[in-house]
Amino acid sequence: MKAGYLQFKPEFCDPDANIDRIKRLVKGKEFDLLVLPELANSGYLFSSFDELSKTSEELPEGKFCKALQELSIDHNGYIVSGICEKRGGKYYNSSILVSPEGKISIYRKTHLFSDEKKWFAPGDTGFSVCDIIDKGKSVKVGMMICYDWIYPESARTLALKGAQIICHPSNLVMPYCQRAMFTRAIENRVFTITANRTGKETNGGNELNFTGGSVIVDPKGNYLHSGSIEGDECIIVELDPAEALNKSITPNNKIFQDRRTDMYSL
Ligand code: ACM
Repeated sequence: MKAGYLQFKPEFCDPDANIDRIKRLVKGKEFDLLVLPELANSGYLFSSFDELSKTSEELPEGKFCKALQELSIDHNGYIVSGICEKRGGKYYNSSILVSPEGKISIYRKTHLFSDEKKWFAPGDTGFSVCDIIDKGKSVKVGMMICYDWIYPESARTLALKGAQIICHPSNLVMPYCQRAMFTRAIENRVFTITANRTGKETNGGNELNFTGGSVIVDPKGNYLHSGSIEGDECIIVELDPAEALNKSITPNNKIFQDRRTDMYSL
């Protein structure tokens, strides 16, 4: 399977510019699964609900979602992207999986980071897996968003539900995650694709620097790619999702079968 990420700097509150940028960066690329950063339609550093109102969209009819659907059909590949979602008078920091068959799945961020708590409602979808088709075979993928990584429960829940690839749209500002994804990958024996954004945002007297360096990790903890800190890039690697079905650490240790759920309640 050809899978990878698109790393870029979303323009704040400018979904049209972001759609154009994404289209330009994926032009000519072949992929089966492509992961985009968190809040790829809107940017991140909000200072008013007015900004959220202008830049968010209802799903599935919003223009950013529609543009990703068209891109998915044009490239005959699945796309996962962070998106600023509006629903029922609330805003969600969400991720969508759009398929070339026209299906959409939505995940809403469970663990909100810092000031996100001012703007977004806590996600209410929970973690679930979706089937995508690769060379006629079903592959299970799951979504989590950025800071969800710090809770091992996020990736573990997805892996226990059968996820072979964890898609991880991100807007990382702390320096830990890219290294920590080694652990999320090996402790669950899954592929992880962390699509981070780059650049700086300033708004309402606040400033954030995003750390780029998107990473793709395999179930044995090998980094299939580590991206640049700055700069746009669309990186696609070849991976075999079946590798994530092998949960053996040694001939005597299968990571999920060996769990001692009588000893802990997590
Ligand atoms: C983050 O969750 N965007 C740090």
